[in-house]
Amino acid sequence: MKAYKYQYEPKQVDEIIIRAFAFEFPDDLNPIWVPDNPVRSHLFNGLSLTMPYLEPYLIKSTQKAMAFISEPQLLADMRGFNGQEARHYQCHRRLNELLKSNGYPELAGVEKRLAASFERLSNMSLRTQLAYNAGFESMTTGFTHWLINRRLALFRDASPHVASFWLMHMVEETEHKTVAFDAYMAYSGQYIPRAIGVFHGSFHLVGFGLIGMLTALNKDRALRKPRNLIALVREISSMIFNVGPYLLRALLPWHNPRCEDDPKWMRDWIAGHAALSAGELLPLIDTKSSDMPVPFASI
Ligand SMILES: [Fe+2]
Ligand SMILES: [Fe+2]
Repeated sequence: MKAYKYQYEPKQVDEIIIRAFAFEFPDDLNPIWVPDNPVRSHLFNGLSLTMPYLEPYLIKSTQKAMAFISEPQLLADMRGFNGQEARHYQCHRRLNELLKSNGYPELAGVEKRLAASFERLSNMSLRTQLAYNAGFESMTTGFTHWLINRRLALFRDASPHVASFWLMHMVEETEHKTVAFDAYMAYSGQYIPRAIGVFHGSFHLVGFGLIGMLTALNKDRALRKPRNLIALVREISSMIFNVGPYLLRALLPWHNPRCEDDPKWMRDWIAGHAALSAGELLPLIDTKSSDMPVPFASI
């Protein structure tokens, strides 16, 4: 497919760094890892369930697109993107195995549906796949801002392993936020398929995340309690309120993810991580702290 008007532009970060993901989740991890909040815990658990199906698909479609792209900086970004996504889904898979073995084997049924759905997606046209990827990645930028800016409200007193893992994942999502968009623009650049991809990429993923969440909540019969029903409405409203504007902006014909600022906490996290010695374990975020700073002493 012939690209039109594509020209690589500098991005906010210098480089997309492939880091080790080293979160040793405890074997007895409580799937309700946000204390006394099964709805929020299972919302993020449901989203985690999708990642070992989404992220390998993102990697494969990005690899397919590389054959059509000659811009060396974009190709370097795509390699960084694939390296980061590969580490993300391996870590999500470990977490998901614990969720299943620690009380929710029913989630395996959702995984079967995810596998079939991503198999179908990977047989669609490359333009559809790259538009999906760009759309999904515009949503993750919204998730980064939501999770970082609201980290105290969302994760105070939560499992430091799971909270640190989600926040690190979102830091890297924003670090590579330009790549799927650039790959689509270099491959096609047409507006309408990209706009459809915003809906396709975000609703497909969140839809499966909600199925995972409801599967776990049903197992616990949690939705029989009015307070959990209220929490469900509150959590989903909060997600829509915080992430929705990023999707709306992604729909603009002149959208470019470079227009979205990177949160300072994210930039501090990247700077702090760069000062770690090679092989040093990732420090965990102190979820009991009153401001949950980045977990690096040098910042
Ligand atoms: Fe990721
Ligand atoms: Fe990503």
